[in-house]
Amino acid sequence: MHMKNKTFIAKHGSPTPSLSKEASSQIPPFPRKLYIESYGCQMNFSDSEIVASIMAQQGFVFTDHYDNADLILINTCAIRDKAEQTIRNRLLVFNQQKIKQPDLIVGILGCMAERLKTQLLEEEKVVDLVAGPDAYRDLPRLISQVDQGHKAVNTFLSKEETYADIAPVRLHANGVTAFISIMRGCNNMCSFCIVPFTRGRERSRNPDSIVQEAKQLFETGYREITLLGQNVDSYSWCPSMTAATASPDHRKPSDVTSNFAQLLAMVAEIDPQLRVRFSTSHPKDMTDEVLYTMKAYPNICKHIHLPVQSGNSRILKLMNRTYDRAWYIERIVAIRHILGPSCAISSDMIAGFCSETEAEHADTLSLMDYVQYDFSFMFYYSERPGTLAARKYADDVPESVKKRRLSEIIAKQREHALMHNQKSIGQVHQVLIEKSSKKSEASFQGRTSQNKIVVFPKGNYQIGDYVAVQIVDCNAATLLGTVVS
Ligand code: SAH
Ligand code: SF4
Ligand code: F3S
Repeated sequence: MHMKNKTFIAKHGSPTPSLSKEASSQIPPFPRKLYIESYGCQMNFSDSEIVASIMAQQGFVFTDHYDNADLILINTCAIRDKAEQTIRNRLLVFNQQKIKQPDLIVGILGCMAERLKTQLLEEEKVVDLVAGPDAYRDLPRLISQVDQGHKAVNTFLSKEETYADIAPVRLHANGVTAFISIMRGCNNMCSFCIVPFTRGRERSRNPDSIVQEAKQLFETGYREITLLGQNVDSYSWCPSMTAATASPDHRKPSDVTSNFAQLLAMVAEIDPQLRVRFSTSHPKDMTDEVLYTMKAYPNICKHIHLPVQSGNSRILKLMNRTYDRAWYIERIVAIRHILGPSCAISSDMIAGFCSETEAEHADTLSLMDYVQYDFSFMFYYSERPGTLAARKYADDVPESVKKRRLSEIIAKQREHALMHNQKSIGQVHQVLIEKSSKKSEASFQGRTSQNKIVVFPKGNYQIGDYVAVQIVDCNAATLLGTVVS
């Protein structure tokens, strides 16, 4: 049976006489084609690979072109208003496609789906299906509901779901680097942040399933994995947990727990040729034990993403980050003390949070001068409905001021990035080759342990090789080099 046409008939009421059951069952092509588009953080991209696996089991094949797909799934982000506007604009494009191809199914997954739930179906007529981040096992049922002519929604958030038993289908893989989700959700309540509402309670994944996945990747040629979580430092697992009871609520007092440092060591032990990265660390939770584990294993990359958000203690308190400027600086000192100056540090920053004064903004700039981040993701504050900040504080910094402060932060970050990159001229770095350079087919691109992108002439090397590259030139974003081994 050709499901597309069945959908068409069901959705539009009475079956078309010319399309009898027999006729429709002869209509090729089968299987159906799936096009997935992902937005937002690495966790979302990683989730899309879980979705791909679930859909492949249903017989779907993948296409890179939405205009020949039977099903379009958009894995969305809700972190800032702009992220949601991007999705709304994309839906206009998919709506045009649906006019040409009325049996096309369009589904919204991820954080915007979770935030808006059925409201999305009301506001965006093109959408047939809405599934939140914990509802992906239900996609086959939801799709068959759409096939039968109904709109379908599941935004149930789970305390247990980790998708630990689902082997992700690596989408757009370079065969060298991959993400592994080690936990889901977030128990912090940063007042600006929508994530606790869209991803639910924090839960950790069984370490055996993580190590198994990393081993399989290594055996198939992958050379770098990134362990993902909103707050990796609060990773915690004890053996009495099962897939069905992965939430900390089920923990017994006698349980011996594995923490993030232990998990890092387990993954690093797989093979010295497998690089390990992780993201994101939270300043209130990052332990010296993690830093010493990084030091003990050369294959754990020397880069820590430690978002500060603001350099001012009053603003940090309003943000409910649960650390202050002095605490954050102490963590930076610990990194420098244990790992030395060669460990890269990056950050996230928000300009113009509720009631931020010029002097408080200047504290963010002065903290940047103190830390000298290698790179940062920088944003201006975008109020998210339902968050603590939206309920308690006025979004009272004018947009023009937010933008000006953000541009000052960006300018400072560029200076620091350039300074770090200039310092590395003449140094030799081990680089894992990831792909051909975007700008030139004659060059490869890879990254150093510190997560710096390096571009260099190809020579006789291959994607997946480790090479020693001497840095000869740079700009703020990229290092240029030549292979010396
Ligand atoms: N779990 C990570 C961050 C995840 S969200 C952490 O705790 O650091 C990624 C980044 O988006 C945040 O670090 C923050 O800088 C930014 N962000 C989150 N909510 C925002 C908002 N409402 N407006 C602007 N930026 C925001
Ligand atoms: Fe959001 Fe804070 Fe959780 Fe990060 S730690 S996801 S910023 S609530
Ligand atoms: Fe966006 Fe959700 Fe990630 S809101 S940043 S996709 S957790």
